[in-house]
Amino acid sequence: MMAVPSSRTPLVAPLGAPLVAMVGGGQLARMTHQAAIALGQNLRVLATSADESAAQVTPNVVIGSHTDIDDLRRVAAGAQVLTFDHEHVPNELLEKLVAEGVNVAPPPQALVHAQNKLVMRQKLAALGAPVPRYTGIERLDDLRCLDAFAGQVDAPLVVKAVRGGYDGRGVRMARNVADARDIARDYLTNGVAVLVEERVALRRELSALVARSPFGQGAAWPVVQTVQRDGICVQVIAPAPELTGDSAAAAQQLALRLAAELGVVGVLAVELFETTDGTLLVNELAMRPHNSGHWTMDGSRTSQFEQHLRAVLDYPLGDTGAIVPVTVMANVLGAAAPPAMSLDERLHHLFARMPDAKVHLYGKAERPGRKVGHLNFLGADGTDLQQLRERAELAAHWLSHAQWTDGWDPHAAGDDAPGARPPKREVPPPAPEGGSDVEERRMGSA
Ligand SMILES: Nc1ncnc2c1ncn2[C@@H]1O[C@H](COP(=O)(O)OP(=O)(O)O)[C@@H](O)[C@H]1O
Ligand SMILES: [Mg+2]
Repeated sequence: MMAVPSSRTPLVAPLGAPLVAMVGGGQLARMTHQAAIALGQNLRVLATSADESAAQVTPNVVIGSHTDIDDLRRVAAGAQVLTFDHEHVPNELLEKLVAEGVNVAPPPQALVHAQNKLVMRQKLAALGAPVPRYTGIERLDDLRCLDAFAGQVDAPLVVKAVRGGYDGRGVRMARNVADARDIARDYLTNGVAVLVEERVALRRELSALVARSPFGQGAAWPVVQTVQRDGICVQVIAPAPELTGDSAAAAQQLALRLAAELGVVGVLAVELFETTDGTLLVNELAMRPHNSGHWTMDGSRTSQFEQHLRAVLDYPLGDTGAIVPVTVMANVLGAAAPPAMSLDERLHHLFARMPDAKVHLYGKAERPGRKVGHLNFLGADGTDLQQLRERAELAAHWLSHAQWTDGWDPHAAGDDAPGARPPKREVPPPAPEGGSDVEERRMGSA
C-alpha cells in the first residue's frame, strides 16, 4: 500500500482538475505553480522544508527528501504525473516508482541523460550531435588517460564533476594538464567521476528550448543567447541577436530531434556553445523548465512553465512565438553583503524608475551569488538592444545591491524624470488597513 500523502492542508482539488506532482520546491516549482493556477490545475510539491521557494506559496506540500522512496511515493500518490524542478532524484528510485505504476515525466530512461554529464555526453555523441572533444574518467587508476587526451586536443581543459553541479559549481577551468590532473584527482578521491573536455573558444552561448508531449508533439521557442559570468547565467536575450535563420532553425531541429530520440516528456533545454568560427556544439541538457526560458513568462505566448504542464499532461502544446521583437531577462543574484534596504523597498524604487520592468521574485533569502529573482524587459519595434540590456543590468543590480550603477539618485531626480521621487520608507510599512498603504504607494509613484 502506498502511504497517504501528508500535506499541510486537505487535498481539495477542483472537481476533475488534474493533480501534478513536482519533486523540488525551488523557484521552478514556484513558477510552475503560478502556471498551474491559471490552468485550473493542482500542483503538489515535494520540498525539503516549509520555507522553500515553492513551499511558501503552494498549499499542497509534502515535506521530505527526494532521495527517500517513501517521500517520493507520498508526493506521487494520486497524481496524474510526477515531474521535476531539478534532476537529482536517483534514477533507481524513479525506476521503482515506474514499476509501481507512477507516470514519471520525463521518464527515468530519458532523465538519466540530464543527470550525469558523462552519460549525457556519450549519448549526444552517439546520436551524432556536435559536442566538445571529451574524455570520461571514472576511477583514479584511469587518471593516466588524461595525458593522452590532453596531447590529442592541444587546448586548455575543463574538468567537470559528472553529477551534482549547477550554476558553474562542479565546473573547473584547468590552467594546464597538471592542474587538470589535480582537480580530477580531488573529485575522484571523493568518489565523483569526471568529464574532462577541451575549453572551447566561445563567441557566445546559446540555448534551444523545446517541449515534447507523450503524444509526440514538439514545440520550439526562438533560440536565445545566454550571457554567463563566473559560470552563472546573468542575462538572456531572446531571440539571440544576429543568429542566422539557418543556424537558428538547425539548433531548433537538433533540440526537437534530441527530445524525440531521448524520449523526453516536458521541457528540454539544450545549452549550446557558438565557437569563434560559428560552429554550434551541444554543452549540456536539462529536462525541466530552465533559466534560459524565464523570458517566456512575459515575452512569449506560452511560458515554459505552462508548456511543461501541458506537455507532461499530454495536452496540445501552446504557441511558442515571441510577442515582441526582443526580450531581455536578467537574473537577480544575491550581493556579497545583502543591502540594508529591504528587497521590498528596492522593488518600490525600481518600479518608480522603470514602470515597464516585469519582476519575478522567488521568496528566497539573499545569499552571495544566489538566484533570488529575475526581471524581464520587453523591447518594441525599433528598440535599441544595447539600451534594453543596460536597463536590465541596471535594474538587476539595483534589486540585488540597492545601488544604481549609473549614479541615478531618485531623490535628486527632477520632476520631469519618469517616476521621480518615490516616497522614502525607512521602516517596513504597517499592515495594510483599508488599503491606505496601497494608496500611499500609488500616489508616490504617480
Ligand atoms: N568546454 C567548455 N569550454 C568553455 N567554457 C565552458 C566549457 N564548459 C563549461 N563552460 C562554461 O561554464 C559554464 C557552466 O558549465 P556547464 O557545463 O553548463 O555546468 P552547469 O551544470 O554548472 O551549468 C558554461 O555555461 C560555460 O560558460
Ligand atoms: Mg550549464
